[in-house]
Amino acid sequence: MSEKMWGGRFAAATDSLVEAFTASIQVDSRLCAEDIRGSQAHARMLGKVGVLTASEAEAIVAGLDQVRQEIAENRLPFVDSLEDIHMHVESRLTEIIGDVGKKLHTGRSRNDQVATDLRLYTRSCLDDLLVSLRHLQTVFVDLAEREVETILPGLTHMQVAQPVSFGHHCMAYVEMFQRDAQRLQDARKRVNVLPLGAAALAGTTFPIDRWDVARQLGFEAVAENSLDAVSDRDFVMEVLADLTMIAVHLSRLAEELILWMSAPFGFIDLPDSFCTGSSIMPQKKNPDVAEIIRGKSGRVVGDLVAMLVLMKGQPLTYNRDNQEDKETFFDALDQVRTSVEIMGRMLPGLKTRPQVMRAQAERGYATATDLADYLVRKGLPFRDAHAVVGKAVRCAQERDIGLEAMPLDDLQALSPLIDQDVYQVLTLEGSLAARNHLGGTAPEQVRAAIVRARARLAQE
Ligand code: ARG
Repeated sequence: MSEKMWGGRFAAATDSLVEAFTASIQVDSRLCAEDIRGSQAHARMLGKVGVLTASEAEAIVAGLDQVRQEIAENRLPFVDSLEDIHMHVESRLTEIIGDVGKKLHTGRSRNDQVATDLRLYTRSCLDDLLVSLRHLQTVFVDLAEREVETILPGLTHMQVAQPVSFGHHCMAYVEMFQRDAQRLQDARKRVNVLPLGAAALAGTTFPIDRWDVARQLGFEAVAENSLDAVSDRDFVMEVLADLTMIAVHLSRLAEELILWMSAPFGFIDLPDSFCTGSSIMPQKKNPDVAEIIRGKSGRVVGDLVAMLVLMKGQPLTYNRDNQEDKETFFDALDQVRTSVEIMGRMLPGLKTRPQVMRAQAERGYATATDLADYLVRKGLPFRDAHAVVGKAVRCAQERDIGLEAMPLDDLQALSPLIDQDVYQVLTLEGSLAARNHLGGTAPEQVRAAIVRARARLAQE
């Protein structure tokens, strides 16, 4: 007979390579606290319904406290022969409290146990990540407030388009992370469902009280179907998709920071404490943190894809393939959490170079649309105004000057509707201030958006 907990029907010992190959303890040991919590809830419930005596349940709960302590102090060696965290905890419990420990697994399976542990762990990661995301949003709101009046050349197609408030640009990220936070909150509802009680797949012959366990563990619902309960990893795929979206947002942000800090842009500087140098080029200061965040996003996308492919071929119910869910999932949770946090630490030290941004906006004919809108207000249909301004831009470009430097006579030659008041319209400040409606870039609107965002953040 094999020495394994499940070894009764085995005539030969496990091949050593197989033992190492099938073990997951190096990855799932991080579920230790959740595993013990779940086991304690299960034991208490078994005590309440009379499957265990009250003193047996108490002994198990107390023994599990000791196991938790030993693991926290790194006193429990992890070995491949015990496969995973569930077996480590159970076997150590039995060493500590004796044969009563062998009763813990009554009416349950590792299949519903691991699903329970992973849901508990995911729930707490979501809560932590939400705090970090809120902090990042607050950092952006603060930055927006500081830079409301800073004028940035807004780009489309990477070409100068229209001037915008740098604060308005910051607030765009507040919205992106707001949707991310909402997605996580929504996913949390589907994470927070108790699988325990499904046992291996079909349920158990013991008179269990699943709602009692749910209440003890803070689950809002109990999984309806035992087969679904043990085989479902939708919550992992869903959270991974949400994490991917956050990673993509962070990557876009990182890309902007990298471009803006490059010499041809020169729009910003990042703090020395968040940049690194070159081993050969003494002059270098590189935005490596932003680059690594951009790079991490590729990994997170890969984690999502790995999980989707892991699930797509699996028949109901539990298959050992599922053991592979944790490494990628934990990786994505770790990478995204760290990226959000480090971004939140770096951004308060961002310095803008308003004069450089201004110069780029001025060189790029960023107020051409304002001139077209001006002509529309004087009665010209927009499409005709577009054509007039196009000619004005060509004219200015030939002389290598901005629209605001074109003499009035020359502008009037293009359209008699143009008057002295046009020069106000052609300023960057005038362009911003004119977009004065909900969602527009006028400083007044950006300030109002900041107030709304702060109120929203204070409520959450
Ligand atoms: N370690 C496994 C996992 O992570 C849980 C154990 C289920 N194993 C089993 N033979 N049914 O999914």
